[in-house]
This record gives sequence, structure tokens and C-alpha cells, in this order.
Amino acid sequence: MKVLVVGSGGREHALCWKLAQSPKLERLYCAPGNAGIAGMAQCVSIGSDDFTALSDFAVSEGIGLTVIGPEVPLVAGLADRLRERGLAVFGPSKAAAQIEGSKAFAKTFMNKYGIPTAAFGVYNKYKDAALALGDCTYPVVVKASGLAAGKGVIICATRPEANEAVKNILLDRRFGEAGSAVVIEEHLEGEEASILVLTDGRGYFCLPASQDHKRLLDGDQGPNTGGMGAYAPTPVINSFLQASIEQEVLKPTLAGMEAEGALFTGCLYIGVILTKSGPRVLEYNCRFGDPETQAVLPLFDGDLLDAFLATVEGRIAGMKPAINPGAAVCVVVASGGYPATYQKGKPITGLDQVPDGVTVFHAGTALAEGQVVTDGGRVLGVTARADNLKSAVELAYRGVEAIRFEGMTYRRDIARKALK
Ligand code: AMP
Ligand code: GLY
Repeated sequence: MKVLVVGSGGREHALCWKLAQSPKLERLYCAPGNAGIAGMAQCVSIGSDDFTALSDFAVSEGIGLTVIGPEVPLVAGLADRLRERGLAVFGPSKAAAQIEGSKAFAKTFMNKYGIPTAAFGVYNKYKDAALALGDCTYPVVVKASGLAAGKGVIICATRPEANEAVKNILLDRRFGEAGSAVVIEEHLEGEEASILVLTDGRGYFCLPASQDHKRLLDGDQGPNTGGMGAYAPTPVINSFLQASIEQEVLKPTLAGMEAEGALFTGCLYIGVILTKSGPRVLEYNCRFGDPETQAVLPLFDGDLLDAFLATVEGRIAGMKPAINPGAAVCVVVASGGYPATYQKGKPITGLDQVPDGVTVFHAGTALAEGQVVTDGGRVLGVTARADNLKSAVELAYRGVEAIRFEGMTYRRDIARKALK
């Protein structure tokens, strides 16, 4: 079968790497891809926003399955556009992708179906939101409802701070249309975990739970980023919690989406926080997490293409793909200055000198005259799998140490919390 992956980050590199191992794969394409993906797939220079060109390409090449990586095209309806042309797609419809594309939808949905989440209010008018801030306990969390590339969540210690955040979102439209509504939410405390679920809308298969590291600096300090590293499985989700999340969150989510007429198919990402009173949903994503995918897929010993086809054909419940009993760690190597401004085009060396057992996923790279250069904020995801977490961490950092580029920066403490 010919497969097309849409996207260009570390997540898409990991998806391509795993799909390339499938005996059912005849040919792999990635649009637009990056320098690392080019080593295992034919990169096609079509942007993930060019729906017409993507569907024309998929039809003319006879693509058997299109896998959509990022949330932006999913929320904008790329899966529907491809399905209208008779193509098979791994990824939710526009209606189902609202679960990530609109926090107002997601929160109201959770309330309706009794899914545990932080107490909240949704506001379209500044006057109403400002008034509501008078009744809150602080800190409080203010969120732009729409997609804001992970930047639309502001934790506010005081009412003036929260008022400022609401103003920025609703009145100044700092996040554009994503700020046409604001969610004001109770602040929760606890460990966070990411649960990635392959689903056909009714049946499902949960991948090992993982933990992201969102802050830039060691010890969870500094600004929020797209994610500086991840590891799996995380010990914070034991089998009891896993069962309770499936029962109290996952099953009602799938049933609720179906009842709303928006059957969710593809990868459902459930971001939970483990509070003293039990797990609460922080967010849903309508796609694989990044960088969680780079740590989770190395533990998937089954045929990923087969599993994706099972979600498309409604038979995922009958599948029991093998999961590796070891652990995997992904250390993100970023450009100096990220997540604010950074330079591109820095030559990267040492990519061929990483130890055996290390896989380097490219997140933001390009080829310039045959040389791999930096081309984004997050540049590489250096990933290792080993029998246990400690060995995986050591191996991943040996991989990082083999790599050099000007200004490279990374956290030294990925997964350390889990080793204590
Ligand atoms: P979200 O995009 O909604 O997952 O938010 C991004 C990050 O902000 C989460 O991973 C949490 O670290 C933090 N966050 C979001 N909502 C809350 C909340 N209600 N309480 C505490 N932290 C939160
Ligand atoms: N790692 C968080 C996300 O993918 O949204």
C-alpha cells in the first residue's frame, strides 16, 4: 500500500519511521516532510494547508491511506476533504477535531457527559469574563478557546493578572480568532500524563502513557515550549489509574462524541492531571502528541500501518498489538533562543555518530547543499529505547552528546522525576 503522511515535525518523522517498518507498505510519501524524513520517505513539497494539492496528489498517486499529523489541517477539515474524494484517512473529521480546536466545545462536552475536568466558565464578552473573575479563587487559568500553538494558556496568580490575560485574548485578539472566546478555569495541581489512544470511534487501543516536559529549563523552570522531551511508560499511571481513566474518561468521551454526531476516529490524545481527588482532563488533542509520539512509538512492536487501517475499518477493538516491555526517552534539542526568536541554517554535525539504539527524529531541519541544517525552534528529538528507563535515559544523552550545532540547547533532566 502507498501511504502519505502530512506534516513536517518530529512527530511525523516518528510516524514515518514506524510506518516504514510495515511489511504492508509499498511506498511512503510525506508532505512536506523534512531532512530526516527524506531518509525514509519521498518528500513532496505540498504544504499541509493546501488541501486541493494534497487531495489531487493522493488521488493521482493512488494513496491507500493518508495519515494527518498536525492539528491545524485536521481542525480545518482536511480529513473530510480527502474522504470526499474517496480516500482513506487516519485522522478525525472537522466536527470531531473540535475536541481540540475549541476548548469551549471540549469543556461544555465534558460537562454534558460527566467527564471529570476543572470547573470552568466560557465567555465571549469581556464584561462578563471580567465580572466572573470576581468570584474566582486564585490562581486561575485563562485559556484562549481556539488553536494557539500551545501558547494560549495563562496561569494567573491574581485577579489583575487574569483580567490582563482576558483583555489580551478577547479585546486585543493576541491569538487572533482563537480568542473569540475565553475559558476561565480552576487551577489544578498534580502530575500530568498523556494518553494516546488509537480509536475507530467505538473500539480503542491505548498506547503506553507518557509524560511531556513543557518548560524550557531543568526542574520545570522557564517559559512553556512545545515540549522539551518525553518518556514512556510513565510510572505515574499505574494499572488502576489506567483502568479508571478508560472507564471514566475514554469510554464516555467516545460515546459522547458519537452521540454528538461527531464519531472520533484516529488518535485521541487525553491530557490528564492527577489531582488528590482523582484524574481530571486538562485537554484533548485530536492527534498524536509531539514529542510524546517520539517516545511512545519505539515501544509499539506491532505493525502501525495495520493498526491505522484497523481504525479506518472499524476493527481496532479486535487488535492486540505487541508493546515492548522496556522504556523509551526522547530528548529534544532546540535552537538557542527558542521558544522566542532563534536563528536557522546552522549546520548540524554528528548525526551519524550516535550510539547503536539511538534514533534521531528530525523536528526542524532542512538540507542546504547536501548538509543538514537547523530549520526550526525544536530541531531534533534524540530518542533511545532500552530495557529500563535508566538505561534509556543514559543512552539518549550519549546520543545528544554526539551531536553539535551552534547554539544547541536541551534539558538535562528528561525523565529524571521518574527515576527517583
Ligand atoms: P492545555 O493546552 O489546556 O493542556 O494547557 C497547557 C498546560 O497548561 C498544561 O499541560 C498544564 O501544564 C497547564 N494547565 C492547563 N490547564 C490547567 C489547569 N486547570 N490547572 C493547572 N494547570 C493547567
Ligand atoms: N506535547 C503536547 C502536545 O502535543 O500538544
